[in-house]
Amino acid sequence: MKAAIMGYGVVGSGVGNILLKNADIIAEKLGESIEIKYVLDLRDFPGDVLEDKLTKRFEDILEDSEVKLVCEAMGGTKPAYDFTKRLLEAGKHVVSSNKELVATYGYELLGAAKAHGVNYLFEAAVGGGVPILRPLWQCLAANHIEKFYGILNGTTNFILTKMYNEDMPFDEALALAQKLGYAEKDPTADIAGADVCRKTCILASISFGKHIDPDQVQTQGIQDINIRDVSYAKANGYEIKLLGYCRKLDSGKIDAIVSPFFVPKGNQIATVSDVFNGIVVVGDMVDEVFFYGRGAGSMPTASACVADLIDCAMHDKARKNFGWGARDAGFVENHSACQGSYFVRGEGDIHAVKAAMGDVTFLSLQGAPLNEVAFITQTETEGDLDRKLAGIPDFHISAKIRVLV
Ligand code: HSE
Repeated sequence: MKAAIMGYGVVGSGVGNILLKNADIIAEKLGESIEIKYVLDLRDFPGDVLEDKLTKRFEDILEDSEVKLVCEAMGGTKPAYDFTKRLLEAGKHVVSSNKELVATYGYELLGAAKAHGVNYLFEAAVGGGVPILRPLWQCLAANHIEKFYGILNGTTNFILTKMYNEDMPFDEALALAQKLGYAEKDPTADIAGADVCRKTCILASISFGKHIDPDQVQTQGIQDINIRDVSYAKANGYEIKLLGYCRKLDSGKIDAIVSPFFVPKGNQIATVSDVFNGIVVVGDMVDEVFFYGRGAGSMPTASACVADLIDCAMHDKARKNFGWGARDAGFVENHSACQGSYFVRGEGDIHAVKAAMGDVTFLSLQGAPLNEVAFITQTETEGDLDRKLAGIPDFHISAKIRVLV
């Protein structure tokens, strides 16, 4: 079967590599080979093994009836949205690693795929090489999903791990992640949490059956994580992780948040370090399952794209029934009205904090200034917590970080 790759960067070149390197196992599984007919990119790649397949014209792919499979690894929504839609409408299967595109236009593109009897699959868009979307949709199909939370960004996990384990400065760790090909073109999307937000939206849309847009999920990145908070976490049995978190509420709505969390060391997620991703899913029948692996990088991400290409080829005639419903504006609860526990650090008088906050757990740190007070709250809404904190006389808050409970 003939395929095309759109975007010959970190992921696209990995897809080309795997299709060539593992052609034997792919052909064995599929009963036929997947041959690359075009590679679309505006750049030149002199001497590349796929140089003779390069084209700068999207229409070469769109108008070639021999091409049945397309891997979109361009990133961004322009022109990826337009290209993907036209390919699906032309009856071609499309696989993608593009989380921004899926988080924003997933519902619409899945609709286009359905209308034209083809598949639109994007396992690589969440967790890189970690199988998570197919397990959620297929293997856990007998469950109501109750909650999921996960480390969904390799770059920020790499940075936090370096800060935590090696006291490496933030900028140095980021530069290293960029050098290793983990970071987005503009790493702000990693650092400020937008990338995790997009992945959380995709997981939530599959888990809860309605399209969740990035603007519905409150998002906070790791840019404000202070080395003192890292020290408090270390001294008191916690890791600090950037999580995408989502759970079904009794009201039928969902609570979704992207934020740094204090994670107790006993939790599986606390063991996920460096570029690795980890996702815990809780289903009402299966209980807790844990997915772990490389969440970024050329080959792991391309591994998921190629598996999707194989799946599309296997389901060339009988389309997979995969998708979710339209956006429902009221489906995501205002996060500050949801219950949570928090780490708070500030300067003030511990007796005043005790009087206002009631039953909290105070944390200690060797060498901390005498007027520094740090504690972990009971479970309450963020709204209630903020009201109580505002009522402590002369207490200056330096940090407030969610705690995974
Ligand atoms: N920048 C992303 C990450 C790439 O670091 O996880 C994979 O989506």
